[in-house]
Amino acid sequence: MYTQALNEPESGARADLGDQEFQARIDAEARIEPRDAMPAAYRATLLRQISQHAHSEIIGMYPEGNWLTRAPSLKRKAILLAKIQDEAGHGLYLYAAAETLGKSREEMFDALLAGRAKYSSIFNYPTLTWADIGAIGWLVDGAAIMNQIPLCRCSYGPYARAMIRICKEESFHQRQGYDIMLTLARGTPEQKAMAQDALDRWYWPCLMMFGPSDQDSTHSDQSTKWKIKRISNDALRQKFLDAVVVQAQYLGLSLPDPELRFDAESGHWRHGPIDWAEFRRVLAGDGPCNRERLAARQRAHEEGAWVREAAAAHEARRAA
Ligand SMILES: [Fe+2]
Ligand SMILES: [Fe+2]
Repeated sequence: MYTQALNEPESGARADLGDQEFQARIDAEARIEPRDAMPAAYRATLLRQISQHAHSEIIGMYPEGNWLTRAPSLKRKAILLAKIQDEAGHGLYLYAAAETLGKSREEMFDALLAGRAKYSSIFNYPTLTWADIGAIGWLVDGAAIMNQIPLCRCSYGPYARAMIRICKEESFHQRQGYDIMLTLARGTPEQKAMAQDALDRWYWPCLMMFGPSDQDSTHSDQSTKWKIKRISNDALRQKFLDAVVVQAQYLGLSLPDPELRFDAESGHWRHGPIDWAEFRRVLAGDGPCNRERLAARQRAHEEGAWVREAAAAHEARRAA
């Protein structure tokens, strides 16, 4: 297959020359397409990132799916159902984008189901009340938009194109979450307290979603050079915080961050210290719901076996 032929250079010297040519194309803002030559490390980096992104979309359905049968009205239920279905679609576009780099969907599924693959740490937190659905849409999808808008200009064509549609849908997700928060914040004292409690629990994990600070991020430098990453973790986190502070004020809710302050000189809000030990713990598999999420995914995969078999049989008959 072309994917292998192009990525097993005969000697180190040739690989270096190829890498320089490749970097020149990147510097000239060329879009890299699946059939183009690319350094093995570029391919591996993208495969890791896109497949982790796809897994996150899929696992991200579980915390919200938990509330589908308990949504407070038919309208809220229909909206949430549409939102969760969008996430399944995002997972599928992204698996398809990752497949163009030469790894099969089955291999990626296996890695996820065996617990070898990473996905966003945020989905290992529980959804305790209906307000969590509001907080997730507002903050988790809000953070996802901040992360994903620059990816629409990523150097790898299939990933960038998938992101354009995904970002449009994320914008709807963010608004539906904020609308839930607004309704609760303007409701009874109990409803407002429920919204505040959800914000208290989701604020810090959402700040962690942007990943380690730039000084501590292992992958950032090379990804920036390859124009996979356009904006640093800290800069994205800053954009998110500046937006969230104003949105929380409008809701009449407070952020659970005693050291939060406005820095008049830069015009930005500054958050207190992030507990990176918690982030690493959750990412390593020891968050509140890691085992539950993986078990739910494994069960769904097993229960879906007959659908995959039926689809394969239908396709075989159609081809014949
Ligand atoms: Fe999504
Ligand atoms: Fe979303």
